[in-house]
Amino acid sequence: MTHPLAVAFGPLPMPDTNPPRPAIPLPDELMASLLSILGPRGIVTDPSDLEPHLSDWRGLYRGASPALLRPASTEELAACMRLLHAAAIPVVPQGGNTSMVGGAMPDESGRQVILSLSRMNRIRDLDPVDMTMVAEAGVVLKTAQDAAAGAGCLFPLSLGAEGTATIGGVLSTNAGGNTTVRYGNARDLMLGLEIVLPDGGVIHGLRRLRKDNTGYALRHLMVGAEGTLGIVTAAVLRLFPRPRAEAIALCAVESEDAALALFRRFRDRDETAVRAFEYMSGNGMEMVLRHIDGATLPLSERADHYVLVDLASSRPDADLRGLMEAVLEEALEAGEVLDAALAESEAQRHAIWRLREEHPEAQKKEGASVKNDVSVPVSKVPEMIRRCSAALQALIPGSRPVPFGHMGDGNIHMNLEQPEGMDAAAFLARSHDIMDCVNDIVRDLDGSFSAEHGVGRLKPDMLAEWRGGAELDAMRRIKAALDPKGLLNPGKVLPA
Ligand code: FAD
Ligand code: MLT
Ligand code: ZN
Repeated sequence: MTHPLAVAFGPLPMPDTNPPRPAIPLPDELMASLLSILGPRGIVTDPSDLEPHLSDWRGLYRGASPALLRPASTEELAACMRLLHAAAIPVVPQGGNTSMVGGAMPDESGRQVILSLSRMNRIRDLDPVDMTMVAEAGVVLKTAQDAAAGAGCLFPLSLGAEGTATIGGVLSTNAGGNTTVRYGNARDLMLGLEIVLPDGGVIHGLRRLRKDNTGYALRHLMVGAEGTLGIVTAAVLRLFPRPRAEAIALCAVESEDAALALFRRFRDRDETAVRAFEYMSGNGMEMVLRHIDGATLPLSERADHYVLVDLASSRPDADLRGLMEAVLEEALEAGEVLDAALAESEAQRHAIWRLREEHPEAQKKEGASVKNDVSVPVSKVPEMIRRCSAALQALIPGSRPVPFGHMGDGNIHMNLEQPEGMDAAAFLARSHDIMDCVNDIVRDLDGSFSAEHGVGRLKPDMLAEWRGGAELDAMRRIKAALDPKGLLNPGKVLPA
């Protein structure tokens, strides 16, 4: 689904943001050298063309930059990086700019150059025997999915921003999304990487091997590094057999515990059939029905809790409809499921998924909201939702918790919407209190403050608090070894 890069609100009043300073032009000699490498199409300096690259999807940050570089090949990029490294110019990689944590934003200094790989958008190879695709970093995720489908295969990574997010971005954030429960995170879908290092060195690691124990797995260091260690220019992605049978249902469930019990019923019956298992709260569903054109609830009554169950199999004879009906019947009898609608057509499947995927957009339209992308062990999801909801409502009376997301992975977006009628800026000024409130409970439940969106610019202080000691020290040493001048995506991930 394509999400326009719209900014709903003015910048969040984060204590670590300053008004952007005017961009500091690159030195003339450097500019001339970059132009000779990239050509006029490869450098953007016009302020109106730079504009969309200076703010993020959530409207948290606004930066300044003298230039956006758009290399057309790995060689061009490597040559640019050698020059920028010598001149000590900081570089911020930016893919589709859908980061939820300000990861792809230049800061306010006006010194940081933005790097876009949008011209490196070729699918170099697709092999249905090896079940691999070699895609350049600028390939949009949806394009990669379509290319796989065109060859009778499946590239399973799927998320709401897939019409805009790029292969470079999803790998650099180790994106999760809707199908992690079955296929894993982006990391699990990657076999090899081509990488340009901060000093312009190139790692030619596009190996399509299932087994390759040849020293440190540098490719895995780059996945989830959020552009702080190297620039991903191309990747070998894993493909899977395409689904030949599908069954999708929207269920109203009795409680958070009932949602988890339903997940267990499906998993115990046939773990390989569960492609996605997504939880939604009554609050979130109301917002989708209110704000999203054409959204309707295919159930007779509204509920406080819903789940979307998506079953898929590559076996044409898999009776997924039978499996869905049998499990739902048991759960209805047990009082876990209150009502359910099974999709009968592609249009209905799409309509049910839309109710889920439009949650972020509907929350934007409803007013100001604060996101908490957290994970806990799957068994603790119901307790986490209940405790966080109660604590948040006590913290800001009238606020509306909107927990939703990837229940099968233990990853819930424990978001909070402002009280109706409250001033948005006053609500957003409480952002850090809100995040702390959720994080205290998540920590108590052995969870993580960042499940899939990453650390970016928003959460380095949390990293210091949660991953201190030897773990953070090792991260700093890795950063210093690969990027001793600290030029690649400064201010992201690691605390200052
Ligand atoms: P950007 O936002 O441009 O960049 C993300 C990070 O990667 C930045 O730190 C950037 O510097 C770095 N980067 C980008 N390209 C490169 C490169 N070639 N080399 C090195 N570093 C690079 N995420 C999930 O995990 N699951 C979801 O379900 C999900 N749903 C979303 C729904 C919506 C509506 C939106 C707006 C976002 C969602 N996201 C989700 C968040 C986001 O992380 C993903 O959309 C995606 O991983 C980012 O890809 P991108 O190309 O937009 O990267
Ligand atoms: C999603 O799963 O839709 C996004 O990752 C969550 C969000 O917008 O908080
Ligand atoms: Zn998500």
